[in-house]
Amino acid sequence: MVVEHGVRRLLLLSRRGPAAEGVSELVAELAGLGADAEVVACDVGDRAALAKVLDGRVVSGVVHAAGVLDDGVLEGMTPQRLDGVLRPKADAAWYLHELVGDVDQFVVFSSVAGAFGAAGQANYAAANAFLDALAVHRRALGWSGVSLAWGPWEQGAGMTEQLAAADVARMRRSGVLPLAGAEGLALFDAAGGPAMVPVKLDLAALRTSGEVPALLRGLVRTPARPTAATAYAGGGIVAALGAAAPADRPELVLELILKHATAVLGHGDAVELSPDRRFQDLGFDSLIAVEFRNRIGAEIGQRLPAALLFDYPTPADLVDHLLPRLVADEPTGPAALLADLERLERALDETTVDDERLRRQIAGRLEVLRGRWAAGRQEEEEDGFDVESATDDDMFRMLDDELGLN
Ligand SMILES: NC(=O)c1ccc[n+]([C@@H]2O[C@H](COP(=O)([O-])OP(=O)(O)OC[C@H]3O[C@@H](n4cnc5c(N)ncnc54)[C@H](OP(=O)(O)O)[C@@H]3O)[C@@H](O)[C@H]2O)c1
Repeated sequence: MVVEHGVRRLLLLSRRGPAAEGVSELVAELAGLGADAEVVACDVGDRAALAKVLDGRVVSGVVHAAGVLDDGVLEGMTPQRLDGVLRPKADAAWYLHELVGDVDQFVVFSSVAGAFGAAGQANYAAANAFLDALAVHRRALGWSGVSLAWGPWEQGAGMTEQLAAADVARMRRSGVLPLAGAEGLALFDAAGGPAMVPVKLDLAALRTSGEVPALLRGLVRTPARPTAATAYAGGGIVAALGAAAPADRPELVLELILKHATAVLGHGDAVELSPDRRFQDLGFDSLIAVEFRNRIGAEIGQRLPAALLFDYPTPADLVDHLLPRLVADEPTGPAALLADLERLERALDETTVDDERLRRQIAGRLEVLRGRWAAGRQEEEEDGFDVESATDDDMFRMLDDELGLN
């Protein structure tokens, strides 16, 4: 603001105000650049407090960057957790909008979480989506308004400070790279608005992530989401299981689980995964569990429940759950016979036989089959069904059996 935009008077607000770490150094640095910065403690989510600080001042521009995080899975969200995150963003930006009205610059710091949605950030996504809408609303009034829905900035400062290595690895896998400080500042200067999404994308990683956000599907072409049928055709796990001996199948599913567990935990080497060790003990938290479930689901072409690892807490439990869903049970007995007849019926419909000799041969074989079946039935009937003494109900039941209606 000072170096590139020539701002000479700054009012810096935060709840800690002058008590925040590094404030005196910042004020001194700004003074060295010719700017006079006043630091005041103010909760910008408190309308009265904000109005009091702004009272009597001439405001020519606003950069709203306040925000807090309180991440968790959707089911874990409560009204309090929504309020806590919406307050410094949606409430505060609205109060600033009302109190300063039209100014030369009204910039709000939003997040890609609002534009794309982000795992574990339902409250934060809502707060940021509000900011994007506020900028558009201000433009509609003919006022200034720019919302910058930032992708993550480099680790070490601000909100990204708390990110674990696994979180950063997850972000990279999902195709979002952190912005260097200089890149972020250059994007700030370039912003036109009203709702911009300055984010550094790794399109190749996005393509392979299996989860391209809806907004980017025009930019990143991916093969259609695999269904069970295409997983089959593509020779994936389903085909591998079909080809394997039944005794080897659990091991194949375990390998699949291991592959994805290693990937979501961000380990270079395969994680030590024994069938009875709980996922939780490997470092799975709820967000990792959701990503793991999405990856397995994408690979097998099935939608799996959100609480997958809650219901099946060890790899062995999960193998038992997944295996029957991946191997189609071969029908036996009468069901197998009916399935074969269906196949035969289809083949008869689909095959053209021009050769008269072959036509007669096929017709003959069908006739023989029918005759053998009828003879077998007659024997059964002679054993068990006496037409003379049968009641009407018995007759109807037998006819229904004959027609396959029972
Ligand atoms: N860093 C990123 O990678 C990233 C990515 C996308 C979007 N953003 C957005 O960019 C903005 C800045 O992020 P950051 O990483 O610099 O975060 P940060 O270091 O946590 O800074 C947020 C600031 O907001 C202040 N604040 C929080 N609640 C407040 C309230 N009720 N009233 C007044 N001040 C309040 C905090 O100071 P006090 O605690 O003293 O109040 C803090 O100085 C945030 O809006 C964030 O959502 C950041």
